[in-house]
Amino acid sequence: MAQVSELAGLQTAARGMFGERIIAWADHLASWSETADGLTCTYLSTAHLAVAKEIAVLMKKAGLAVEIDTVENVVGRYKSPAPSAKTVIVGSHYDTVRNAGKYDGRLGILIGLAVAEHILRNGITLPFNLEVIAFAEEEGVRFPASYIGSRAVAGRFEERLLESRDAKGITLAQALLENGADPKAIPALARRAEALAGYLEIHIEQGPVLLEANLPVGVVTAIAGGSRYLVTIDGEAGHAGTVPMSSRRDAVTAAAEMTLFVESRCNRPGLVGTVGRFSVPGGATNIIPGRCEISLDIRSGDDAVRLAAVVDILAEIQRIAQRRSVKATTTQALETPAVPCSPRLQEAFAASIARAGLPVRRLPSGAGHDAVMFDGLTDIGMLFVRSGNGGVSHSPRETVSADDADIAARILLDVLVNLKDV
Ligand code: HGY
Ligand code: MN
Ligand code: MN
Repeated sequence: MAQVSELAGLQTAARGMFGERIIAWADHLASWSETADGLTCTYLSTAHLAVAKEIAVLMKKAGLAVEIDTVENVVGRYKSPAPSAKTVIVGSHYDTVRNAGKYDGRLGILIGLAVAEHILRNGITLPFNLEVIAFAEEEGVRFPASYIGSRAVAGRFEERLLESRDAKGITLAQALLENGADPKAIPALARRAEALAGYLEIHIEQGPVLLEANLPVGVVTAIAGGSRYLVTIDGEAGHAGTVPMSSRRDAVTAAAEMTLFVESRCNRPGLVGTVGRFSVPGGATNIIPGRCEISLDIRSGDDAVRLAAVVDILAEIQRIAQRRSVKATTTQALETPAVPCSPRLQEAFAASIARAGLPVRRLPSGAGHDAVMFDGLTDIGMLFVRSGNGGVSHSPRETVSADDADIAARILLDVLVNLKDV
């Protein structure tokens, strides 16, 4: 693998010093989980609140001024000596999907933390304030409301999200109040656009491109847009043994036909479609399912392609429902447009990667990231870090090497000490 030559501003950082610590921190944070085995850490669970506190401890030890805000974002601040300095945010999320890997989101937080600690410990001064933000909720697992943490900071939190309910019927508003947070205080978290000088996010690629190119890092060009829906199919429950097949209004077989249509309609270049949730409330072996709930996740780097697929899929769902005499109710859970990363910050990352003696590879992101919430508010830039194990993510097999984490940290530090137009 190409040797990483000394980067500007890194003479004091011994090679490898960041990587080992970042991986050790990720292991440490993974010790809090809602499940006895595997890592599940969803919004405001006991495990989630413990991880927030632990990240605050790590940020304090690093010398940052730390605050846990109304929606449980953990914010670590470095204040620039420059008068009326703007702020650069380095962030990602610490919530996880179910049975998750240790690095999705958290790697970006921990790399930001390691670099901020290096800046403080070595008396490096920046012409801008730095906020390392651990966003509390990005995945939308517990509530059908993604990006809660970054929405709040970007001033894009929508009050309607407070009514979203988890599997136990608890609303987001109730969960916040139970955590001693006042939902009415959320709008005050919004950062003013004029106070920001950029948003940077380091994230595992969650795909095979850098692995196959044998590269540790890559510059993200754009983030795919996404449409998420929940579909409830209502047919008629009945006795599995006595109702003839021809007179059934089976919610599951209708949902299955809809699912196969999502697969076939999205099976084309530049488009993906997934039915990730498929549940039968109160299901039993000997009951014809009266209700089935499925989720839709449609993505593309091209909004017109994605939106055309959404129109076709929602129309076909209704056609299938009609033909099978069931009722299909669709509720939109998320809509984010495809977001380009700013040329200025793409160049900042590319120049630093080149200074490190590494080839510069640019690639789009099929996954969504907190960065999308800052589009339009300030310049956004993302650096991908190679994913191991074939690029698998949203799985306990997710992996990243200490070496690659070290290189990504050195790149981020170099970007920060060389950032222009701040
Ligand atoms: O689903 C996503 O793209 C991200 O992991 N939240
Ligand atoms: Mn994820
Ligand atoms: Mn993520």
